Amino acid sequence: MTKGDPLLVLKNLKAYYASKKGLVRAVDDVSLEIREGECVGLLGESGSGKSSMALAIIGLFEKMARFSAGASNDPELLKTFDKGIRGTQERPGVQGSVVFRGKDLTKLPSDELVAIRGREISLIPQGLGHALNPQHSIGHQTAESVEVHDENIRLLELKRKVLEYLGLVQLADANLRFVLDPGSFSGGESQRILIAMALIGGPYLVIADEPTTALDVTVQAQIINVLKMVRDEFDVSLLLISHDAGVIAEMADRVAIMYAGKVVEYANAVKIFHEPQHPYTMGLMTSFPTIAMMQMRAGKKPRLRGIPGDPPDLCDIPSGCPFHPRCRYAVDICLEAVPEYREVEPDHFIRCHRWGEIEQE
Ligand SMILES: Nc1ncnc2c1ncn2[C@@H]1O[C@H](COP(=O)(O)OP(=O)(O)O)[C@@H](O)[C@H]1O
Ligand code: SF4
Ligand SMILES: [Mg+2]
Repeated sequence: MTKGDPLLVLKNLKAYYASKKGLVRAVDDVSLEIREGECVGLLGESGSGKSSMALAIIGLFEKMARFSAGASNDPELLKTFDKGIRGTQERPGVQGSVVFRGKDLTKLPSDELVAIRGREISLIPQGLGHALNPQHSIGHQTAESVEVHDENIRLLELKRKVLEYLGLVQLADANLRFVLDPGSFSGGESQRILIAMALIGGPYLVIADEPTTALDVTVQAQIINVLKMVRDEFDVSLLLISHDAGVIAEMADRVAIMYAGKVVEYANAVKIFHEPQHPYTMGLMTSFPTIAMMQMRAGKKPRLRGIPGDPPDLCDIPSGCPFHPRCRYAVDICLEAVPEYREVEPDHFIRCHRWGEIEQE
């Protein structure tokens, strides 16, 4: 795989849930490209739409959205999927395109999508709790990721492959413990197993959704090391999702900043962490001590100021630029018009009316 060619191209991607309060615009007009061999970080506060974007990419958003609408016991909500919201063009589900290796995944029949999922794109889902099936041994579950795509593989070969991958992620005593079920493994070990499962099918793209959240600090560092090994030793692209800028700063080549369902800035990691230009990114970078330390080492004088206020409810997004109620640079137009997502210099995308007018602090 040559580094640099586009692997995944999202264009005007929207992913909306139906809820009793109205449409939840979890992913709202996102355009983004991930290239072969690169690690892209997706950073945003909790509830900004990151996991929804991951689900939309792998084609599981609609299933989850319909399930949660169905689970709410409101038949009217389910109807909105087919008929849309009365009086508007809007409807829950996914719109826009997800072009992966030249194919728009949103248009593929479900059997083709199932064949791609796991083998060409794999997701390490958020939350260890539900990711592993408590009923089956971890060896069995890791093997399943191969068997789904290769029914003819011989049993001995399968076992060899499972142990090879569990060994690669450095699961202690894998050759003895692969027969045990998930309850016998710690959080960090479970995350290693999930990483092995994501890799064993030989994917082009691995999406890791909050892979270190819920782990203690030492274990977080170990998992980051495993992911760095994946980035460096495997021929894959990585989409690393986190609400923690420190985790993203450890390994991303490029970083997309998400706010209220929108990507507001996308640029190389150095620019994002050292010269952010969107007011939200600027504020976000003053919220993490690890980033302040990194900036200090680079000779800057960082301030830990944070951002006043809270992110909006995605059922009720503010008019114009959704960040305007929290933005110290907001002017009239920010309340009226949604800023366009534009490439302001090569490989630097931003959604702000005032780009170029705001001085770095
Ligand atoms: N199944 C669902 N049904 C309705 N709303 C949902 C569902 N899952 C997530 N949401 C809402 O979508 C928004 C984005 O959530 P999510 O994608 O999980 O954000 P993040 O991963 O950035 O924390 C949140 O407002 C959340 O409450
Ligand atoms: S568009 Fe306006 S409100 Fe939004 S980030 Fe830019 S200056 Fe702030
Ligand atoms: Mg999430």
